[in-house]
Amino acid sequence: MSDTTIFIPKDSRDSVQLNEDGWITHPRGETIEVYGPAKGHAIGCVHAYEPSEIDQRIEQLAQGYQTWRFTRLTDRARLLHRWADILEKHITPLAQLLMLEIAKNRQDASDEIQRSVDFIHYTAEEGLRLSGEALYGDAFPGHARNKVSLVGRVPLGVVLAIPPFNYPINLAITKIAPALMGGNAVILKPPTQGALSGLNIVHLAYEAGIPFNVLAAITGSSRNIGDYLVSHPYVKMVNFTGSTPTGQHIAQITTMMPLLLELGGKDAALVLSDADMTLARDQIVSGAFSYSGQRCTAVKRVLAVDELASSLGLAIAEKVRTLTVGLPEDNCMITPLISQQSADFVWELIQEALEQGAVALTPVHRKDNLIFPVVLDYVTPSMRIAWEEPFGPVLPIIRIQDEAEGISLANASEYGLQAAIFTQDISKAFDLAEHLDVGTVQINGKTSRGPDHFPFVGTKSSGLGAQGVRYSILAMTRLKSTVVNLGHV
Ligand code: G3H
Repeated sequence: MSDTTIFIPKDSRDSVQLNEDGWITHPRGETIEVYGPAKGHAIGCVHAYEPSEIDQRIEQLAQGYQTWRFTRLTDRARLLHRWADILEKHITPLAQLLMLEIAKNRQDASDEIQRSVDFIHYTAEEGLRLSGEALYGDAFPGHARNKVSLVGRVPLGVVLAIPPFNYPINLAITKIAPALMGGNAVILKPPTQGALSGLNIVHLAYEAGIPFNVLAAITGSSRNIGDYLVSHPYVKMVNFTGSTPTGQHIAQITTMMPLLLELGGKDAALVLSDADMTLARDQIVSGAFSYSGQRCTAVKRVLAVDELASSLGLAIAEKVRTLTVGLPEDNCMITPLISQQSADFVWELIQEALEQGAVALTPVHRKDNLIFPVVLDYVTPSMRIAWEEPFGPVLPIIRIQDEAEGISLANASEYGLQAAIFTQDISKAFDLAEHLDVGTVQINGKTSRGPDHFPFVGTKSSGLGAQGVRYSILAMTRLKSTVVNLGHV
């Protein structure tokens, strides 16, 4: 596969033009470029939708929704299973695409797609198992048993799914599949870096038989079409993963609309003096540096009690020095960051911390947007890196006097996604977990989202609502009560 030839399935009716072999050539009309972070230049381009085209496409979805919402659950599930099967057959070219578009390494790229396949199957099954309830009137004073409420769930309408660049396939599918299973129509607005992957998975959905007027990919720059999509009158819900400022902006420009938001994080790993040091080291390094730290759930700070901070820091640094750095196709753990701008930001945080007295335990080195992994000891709460989310391969260690200071520093963050506690005292771990203001606490494990049927929740600036297979279906449907007044017919 050359840089400019992108795999895409043959059945294309959206956004891109294909040659006879089903490979993307030149998209129609106005386009935006998709930059390849590992290549350092554009690797393709996609159509930039105009508002009038958006209107037309969303109207098709609004119509398609009227049929899809009444399509039998078993039929929806069958189509989703078929989509998953087709995706599974395309793991290799899709992984290739992820390597090109977002510089994710080969193994992680394949894992992202396999995880998405599994997610769709699970969602199709879970959707079949959701059931409602019947409530009898006589449970409330003054009412008789002849009044019965049948409580079920109904779809919302057209759902707008906006995934981020770091999981353009998985975080698209974790939105699309539950929305479709719940009976909604879905617009996918893929990130520009990830748009080719987004188009591909949608085309594979069409190949599976998911109707063209039930699922659409709308490409373009968020700056130009983001607000238009979010505030479109036919859009009844937004499911967004991305930065906190963008999530907050979406919340500001929408009214009376359900939102499911997965935003930033500054996940802390709290390491206590009785922790299994090898376990803590391995989990922290993997949690902090996989996909070069470009994960909302990455371990973004270590809070270590003073007595073990030095030995833990050295152990972490020793392990970090063994991480492979380079290209995604060589399966390196540390690969070029998504853009020069992102790399500049990470670099600025590192340099500023060093100037203010932090100590680097690993070499500090950069080549364009490739930042070598950095461990910083003696980071203090006065440094920006103690609070800001770098989204890059840098791990600050903050020394604490005791657990109480750890909890206080962990909770002082504006974010509340996850936290990890490393200790062999399980009672203490539970006690501390209760005091952490986050969506998920991991005891003796790194912070991370999966398994994907677990609830994934963020407090404070980290999000709104709960994801996870069942939780996502619930979030993208609403209760409906039909009351039967027995004896009156
Ligand atoms: O970047 C945000 C993702 O939801 C993180 O997922 O923990 O599986 O990497 P992950």
